[in-house]
Amino acid sequence: MRHTSLGTTYPGRYDTIMEVNGYGKISDYLDGEGGRVLDIGCSVGIETARLAAENPGHYFIGMDIEPPRIAIARRGIWSLKDVGITQPRLELMRRIPGFEVIESESAASPALWLEFEGCFPVIMLRRPLDNLGFVVGDYDEPPFAPHSFDVVTAFTCGFRGSREASVMPLIRPGGVLLNSLYAARA
Ligand SMILES: C[S@@+](CC[C@H](N)C(=O)[O-])C[C@H]1O[C@@H](n2cnc3c(N)ncnc32)[C@H](O)[C@@H]1O
Repeated sequence: MRHTSLGTTYPGRYDTIMEVNGYGKISDYLDGEGGRVLDIGCSVGIETARLAAENPGHYFIGMDIEPPRIAIARRGIWSLKDVGITQPRLELMRRIPGFEVIESESAASPALWLEFEGCFPVIMLRRPLDNLGFVVGDYDEPPFAPHSFDVVTAFTCGFRGSREASVMPLIRPGGVLLNSLYAARA
């Protein structure tokens, strides 16, 4: 199977976006346990997955309008081409429990090596996270009931104020929408 580049996100990007916007951390918006976070325009979902791994008591859903991106997100294997892996980003993923960084043929299965056409490293979820899910969906018609989420993130996905009417009802009273049209370069 040929692996095509589809990604438009990378590990660590959401930390930068949160910082430049003065938003703090996702955990600042989640009390106790059982919080629900929707990441709209999640692309291939590696940042949604990282947030889920870092916040195990809370549930994260990534949504994107592009089915091939959601297919990669669900599979939990990201190649260099998916997520622009660089050394600092690899170091970041090594520190997050639940992820494995596979850097060479010797460490990987031959099937993986063939599929990724030797384009290593790849980042892999060691096991499915039980607090993570992905859906194909359009933020103009999101497939969720009112008050389903404590936090909605909408980072660099074309989502702007004029579109809030479709998303604000999804947020429970007292919850937040964290929106950013731009990301500073990491
Ligand atoms: C530049 S990427 C940003 C990915 C990630 N949020 C980040 O900041 O790293 C924009 C993503 O928004 C998605 N997108 C665009 N329009 C959308 C819509 N109407 N509903 C859901 N996702 C959308 C695209 O498919 C793409 O994956």
